Formats: sequence, C-alpha cells, structure tokens
Amino acid sequence: MTRTSRIPGFYKVSVPERHAMVGDATAATEHDLALALEDGGLDAETADKFVENVLGTYALPYGVALNVRIDERDYVVPMVVEEPSVVAAASNAARMVRVGGGFHAEVDAPIMIGQVQLVDVPDDVAATGAILSARDELLSIADAAIPGLVARGGGAREIEVRSLEPGMLVVHVSVACGDAMGANLVNSVAEGVAPRLAELSGGTVGLRILSNLSDRRCVRVTCRVPAAALATDTMSGDEVISGIENASRFAELDPYRAATHNKGIMNGVDAVVIATGNDWRAVEAGAHAFAARSGTYAPLATWRRDGDHLVGRLEMPLALGTVGGTLRVHRAARVSLQMLDVSSAGELAAVAASVGLASNLAALRALATDGIQKGHMALHARSVALAAGTPTAWVERVATMIVEAREITVEGARRALRVLGESAARDVEPRRTEVTADAEE
Ligand code: MEV
Repeated sequence: MTRTSRIPGFYKVSVPERHAMVGDATAATEHDLALALEDGGLDAETADKFVENVLGTYALPYGVALNVRIDERDYVVPMVVEEPSVVAAASNAARMVRVGGGFHAEVDAPIMIGQVQLVDVPDDVAATGAILSARDELLSIADAAIPGLVARGGGAREIEVRSLEPGMLVVHVSVACGDAMGANLVNSVAEGVAPRLAELSGGTVGLRILSNLSDRRCVRVTCRVPAAALATDTMSGDEVISGIENASRFAELDPYRAATHNKGIMNGVDAVVIATGNDWRAVEAGAHAFAARSGTYAPLATWRRDGDHLVGRLEMPLALGTVGGTLRVHRAARVSLQMLDVSSAGELAAVAASVGLASNLAALRALATDGIQKGHMALHARSVALAAGTPTAWVERVATMIVEAREITVEGARRALRVLGESAARDVEPRRTEVTADAEE
C-alpha cells in the first residue's frame, strides 16, 4: 500500500474501480469498502436497534476528498453529503493547499464540560467557597461515576463555579474523555456529583448535562497557499489573494455574511463528522456558539495575504470520538475510520477541520472569481440528468449536453436522452465524459 491521497483521474473511473484505488491507497481494503458500503452500511434490522419506530434507512452519497495532507501525512477523507460540488471543491482546494506544504493542525486535550445547575442557593459566595474547598472530594465522586474511562487514563480534571444570577450557580466539571466524544460520560459525571453539590451549596439541583460549547476541546488549522496555485483562467493568483482577503474581511465585519461563510466551512466538517459516525448536531451547536463567543457572530476561519502567499486559519471546537457511541456499529462509519487510520479522536478532529478550511477556501475562491453558480450548475446538471431517468452510464454525457445547451432542466435532459437514444440505435456506445474536469481532480 502506498499511502497517498493524490489519485489523479479518480473521478473518471467507475465506483468499483474507485474502491480498488482507495483500497490500494489506504488501510481499508477494496473488499472492506465494498462490504461496508453495501446498503449504505446499515440495514433496517440494525437501524431498529438504534432509534425508535424504524421504517427503514435513508441513504446519502458517500464520497472521498483527495489531496488532503496534514502535518506531512496523507489522508483519503470520507465525506457524506448530498450537496453537489462539496467533495470536488474540497479536493480541489486541498490540492492547492498541498502545493504550499499542506495543512498544519494543533488540537487541544479532549476536555468536555459537564454542567450542574443549582437553584435557590441561599448564599452564592458561601456556596462557591464550600464547593471549591471540596474540589478533591468532588473529583473523586465524579471519577467514581466513570471507572472505565478512569482506567483508560481519562477522568474528571477540574471544578469551576459560575454565578448566573443571585441564587443560581452553575458548576462546571471538566472531564478528559480520551478518544470518546464524551456525552454519556460527562452526563454520568454531572448526575454523579449533583447530590453532593446540593448539600455543599444548600440549594436545589436543576439541570445536569454536558455543554455542547466544548471550547476546551478546540482544533486550530493553518495553511499557506502560494499565489500561483490560486490563479484562474481569467485572474492572476495575486488578484485571487486580494479577492479572498476581501471576502474574509466581509465575514469578519458582517454576521449575515459570517453565517454563510461558516456554512461553507461546515459543508466540509459535517460531511466528515457524518461519515465517521459522529454527532453532527453537537458539532454544529458548538461551532456556532463558539463563533458568537465575543457577542458578535464571527467567521470560524479567516484569510490574509503574506507576501505572495495566502494564509488561512481556522479555530473551532470539535468534540469527536473514535470509540463508543451507537454509530460504531454502522459499517460505513467503521470503514471510514479504517480508511483514515487515525490514532486518536484529536487526529480525526484535525482531519475534519482541515476539510472545513479546504471547503472555505474553495467557496471563497469561486465567489471571488467566477461566482459560485458556474461550477454548481455544472454539477447540478448531474442530479437533473438522474431525475430525468438517465441510465447511470449516460449521466455524465447528458449532464454535459444540457450544460452546453444551457438547458439544465428535466425536460432538457429528456431531450438529450432522446438524442443519445437515437445515437445508441446507430450503435454508438455510451461513454464517460467530464462535466467539470477541473472541479474534481
Ligand atoms: C454553499 O453550500 C456554501 C457557500 O455559500 C459558502 C460561502 O458562501 O462561503 C458557497
């Protein structure tokens, strides 16, 4: 196995051929992939054990981002997403970043926060003092609630008390969660320490639950892209850098734009989070709360010129797990982790954040140059071709035809199909062509 994420021509070959290529390039074999991705990786019987009132399962496309290099290591990154162009755009941007040496990541220790709300506290100051004085006892009670995690080297680390209003305190218990996302562990801790907190404070216990603002568990990713790698057919790399810097300033100054800017980042992050069986609602909640931490909603990633390079930086909380959680029984989630071959949840967070930064770069470069619609419409043409009932072997061909005819509609696709049908009747083989070759390299 040659571990590389650079696989030229990947988009041109069939799905089984892609399995073989990824099998050659990663720790997941061709056989593993075929088996894991059958039925979308989850049958109805297993799904019935996950949630309630199951009628079936709901499939989404499973693709891979190529060209991703982080701290001198290559990753073929699984992405589950329904939006056309997200995977191609991330792969394309990762190729540009690769020219500048790839992504560099720094990940915090996996600390999650459990919150215990105390109400009707008679004396906030006295209660705070009593709780902080009992720190060691409280950490022991917390650890007793999670013996398995403590045996693996994790456990409760710190106690903090915050006063929210007179008579209402909230106690934070920080827990090192190892390679778990940590929700169940932290909830057990919060419930475990609550009775003693009520005694110490003289108040009544309210809520006991983790916080999804996991700001002790952040990941920071940077990249440096040379101007030449950013140039388009009509704009120099230098002009593209200026455009992306202006786009970044726009998001920094305007929450309306920051929301869309961050949506573009989450296109990449969520796709990896879902592919690896993690809780994307938790990640979304944490990301947006973090983006608003100054009181003004801000971009999670920013871009600046540095000489003839563009420098991107992203910082966000990412509470991901590589162990535990019901989704570990999902075959596709398991094969995703096998393919990535990460040694920790922190490494997985570095991968997801890098794909987020790549997605952001791709979106800003498109917006600052041709506009987003050109590439989107070309890829949207495939979905339209499928909706028109085009056989899969002809989808690329029909998509190309309706883009060229500027008629990206189901009716246009049916017309293209009729033309192709007539050619087939004259013994012309359907063949694969490219809609936007550049978009998927
Ligand atoms: C679309 O899914 C995402 C974008 O709107 C992100 C952005 O505007 O930066 C293109």
